[in-house]
Amino acid sequence: MVAHKIAVIAGDGIGKEVVPEGIRVLEAAGRRFGIELSFDEKDWGCERLAAKGRMLPEDGLETIAGHDAIFLGAVGWPSVPDHVSLWGLLIPIRRRFDQYVNLRPVRLFEGVPCPLAGRKPGDIDFWIVRENCEGEYSEIGGRLYAGTEQEMVTQESVFTRFGVDRVLRYAFELAASRDAKHLTSATKSNGIIHTMPFWDERVKAMAERYPGVKIDQYHIDILTAHFVRFPDRFDVVVGSNLFGDILSDLGPAVTGTIGIAPSANLNPEGTHPSMFEPVHGSAPDIAGQGIANPIGQIWSGAMMLDHLGHKEAAAAIVGAIERVLASGRSLTRDMGGSASTVELGKAIESEL
Ligand code: NAI
Ligand code: MG
Repeated sequence: MVAHKIAVIAGDGIGKEVVPEGIRVLEAAGRRFGIELSFDEKDWGCERLAAKGRMLPEDGLETIAGHDAIFLGAVGWPSVPDHVSLWGLLIPIRRRFDQYVNLRPVRLFEGVPCPLAGRKPGDIDFWIVRENCEGEYSEIGGRLYAGTEQEMVTQESVFTRFGVDRVLRYAFELAASRDAKHLTSATKSNGIIHTMPFWDERVKAMAERYPGVKIDQYHIDILTAHFVRFPDRFDVVVGSNLFGDILSDLGPAVTGTIGIAPSANLNPEGTHPSMFEPVHGSAPDIAGQGIANPIGQIWSGAMMLDHLGHKEAAAAIVGAIERVLASGRSLTRDMGGSASTVELGKAIESEL
């Protein structure tokens, strides 16, 4: 048996409902494939902030630094400003553990109603690679003359050659490993005249090392339109922290629901634990009702097993998701069904 120690942070809202389903399916995969997983559950999140004044203990991140991976639900609640909850927990994890790649698959499954006319399963199947540690999400900036007529605010983006090159290298490697060998870069070098031309320059420099990879580059505005009109054109899409964030909600939305979209926050070198979480947030509008779609969380679990070296178990989970979706049984409301979170989780467990 291979034993893995997993830190579990269910977090807020529907995170608390979908994480148990993720664990249910991970345990089933563990039984089938002989993978031993131990789950170290943490109560970190907005409730802890209200009770104890911090989203996580002062030494919290150090207590999980030696774990093999982090399995997270969602963070954020209406009682706490979103920038406080995000910067209080999620961003510190991504930065402390140098999880500089945020990897998000976009796939159209059979059985999930697609909002785009005429698209069938197989048409949409690509990866979004988002820079996850710098870019537009920076603490540099400030506010002067707050609350007066002269009020002014600045916010600086940070793009380093080191940071841009390492995420581009990952994206090029991924593209090179795929049949289509096609990389699309998200830019905005017409309007943003320092960081984005630099981003384009680094794409060009990296492209020289990957002559087998075909490169496209679009400004983010038309790229979002292409995601809707021609989602079949994409294979691997790479973007800065902000552009990647936007694209990775839009991508899953064009395949039917963001409730099924998973993500991996990767430290590719494996020096630190990587983190696996659904793309969606805590969904306060449906939290507590037991109707959230658990597939984003369950698929994130599959990505975690893949990262830990259990390719076969990961593929088996994705296969079980596929078959349950195609059967049309046990679908949650966001996919046109009436099943509960637990019913869908159990259906995938028994399919596995
Ligand atoms: P959201 O993703 O929580 O919800 C957007 C919409 O999608 C809502 O109508 C929701 O009901 C629906 N939805 C989301 N996940 C679903 C699922 N699994 N099944 C069915 N429907 C689902 O985004 P929103 O409303 O912008 O943010 C809510 C809170 O979550 C905020 O505090 C935000 O900061 C936080 N958030 C946290 C993220 C994270 O932990 N990585 C990511 C995005 C938002
Ligand atoms: Mg997002």
